[in-house]
Amino acid sequence: MAAVAADLEQFLASAQSRIHDELNDFLRIPSVSARSEHTPDVRRAAEWVAAQCTAIGLTTSEVIDTPGHPIVLAEWRNAPGKPTVLIYGHYDVQPPEPLELWTSPAFEPTVRDGKLFARGSVDDKGQLFLHLKALEAHLASRGTLPVNVIVLAEGEEEVGSENLASFIAAHVGRLQCDAVVISDSTMFAPGQPSILSSLRGLAYFEIRVRGPQSDLHSGMYGGAVVNPAMELARILATLHHMDGRIAIPGFYDDVKPFPDAVREQMRGLPFDEEHFRAEVGSPALGGEYGYTVLERLWTRPTCEVNGLLSGYTGEGAKTVLPAHAMAKVSCRLVPDQDPAVIENLMDEHVQSVVSAGVTVEVEHLHGGKPWRAELSGPIFDAARRALLAAFGKEPVITGEGGSIPVVGDFQRLLDVPVLLVGFGLPGENAHAPDEWISIENFEVGMRAMAALWDELAAT
Ligand code: BES
Ligand code: ZN
Repeated sequence: MAAVAADLEQFLASAQSRIHDELNDFLRIPSVSARSEHTPDVRRAAEWVAAQCTAIGLTTSEVIDTPGHPIVLAEWRNAPGKPTVLIYGHYDVQPPEPLELWTSPAFEPTVRDGKLFARGSVDDKGQLFLHLKALEAHLASRGTLPVNVIVLAEGEEEVGSENLASFIAAHVGRLQCDAVVISDSTMFAPGQPSILSSLRGLAYFEIRVRGPQSDLHSGMYGGAVVNPAMELARILATLHHMDGRIAIPGFYDDVKPFPDAVREQMRGLPFDEEHFRAEVGSPALGGEYGYTVLERLWTRPTCEVNGLLSGYTGEGAKTVLPAHAMAKVSCRLVPDQDPAVIENLMDEHVQSVVSAGVTVEVEHLHGGKPWRAELSGPIFDAARRALLAAFGKEPVITGEGGSIPVVGDFQRLLDVPVLLVGFGLPGENAHAPDEWISIENFEVGMRAMAALWDELAAT
């Protein structure tokens, strides 16, 4: 069995405490892309990443403005005749709220029990940073890299990557490469390295229902005036059939079944539904009738309420008929569903079921296409060998329920394979309080990615 090269191992072991200090500095920056009050922090994180790229020895490193948050682009191209890889990650994070549910503050990285807790630790600062340190291991111990490298880090992944596709399209020549490599996903289980074969897409909506011009006394008006909160609840209830299927006409028209071989592989994974249930803490699992939990998560589309707002929600009772109600609703999509098509279907459906007495507006917040990998070629073979070398175990092929909208754009605009190899773990609380990354995965992940470049250059 191949091993991670001794010089890389040695560098990473000897630099371990500095690497962790640097990661902590990165995690302390509250780069919350969704909140305008954090715009300066998001820029500070971009500048931090750009400075890291220079410090580890990449030859160029820039912070590039966009209409939204900046993009960091860094390069090292001194391996003529060798493959060029583009490493993508995101330095923005989700909002940390509700703050009171964090055991230690979201932006004060804290180690407990082999876990590093902080917002962004696993999604995605820790995973982006481990790539930078894998590159540093090569440059510091050998003065060179076995492949040419482009690092592209964005600050808008958690808000839909609005400006990234146009950036890629405008810089196709400069971003030309042989493969894109991304670590922004999870492993199937601890110690079990994993290569992703699919991601779901996304169509995200805000549905606003308006009724009377202001809140009303629910005794003086209730019963004669249509209640926007009740009306919103009714609209939301029309989104599904009793068996869990989505009831929006045409919703499944473009769903292409997963190949039998992929479904077969999924069924072979040792997935314990009861363990999953216990981990999420729900009294029972639900979803679309006729599918296993993994199939529901990885191969089937969804339509879910993400948030609800209406009327009086303070202490005690207030008799009021609310003037408006709002829901945030998202659909996860599978190949070949197109977010633009789903947006139209949602609009038509909602307008067709709304009653007289209220008006309803559907706003499209953001979308992303689903993605499925081919999983063959030099980058995948190299990844299998590198993961085996670092983890001592062959990787499994998994699917994923989350979305990384830019993955499809990379594949389409650059026409290259995208390798998704993540080092998160189930239960790491991404987007939730007490997000953490396994320190062991961070360490082994760095070694695996350092080994990947040796393996790729050797093919
Ligand atoms: N890292 C996640 C995506 C992900 C989650 C991949 C779990 C694999 C496993 C990413 O940062 C993310 O959260 N994406 C958003 C995309 C959205 C905001 C457009 C998501 O999936 O909700
Ligand atoms: Zn995320």
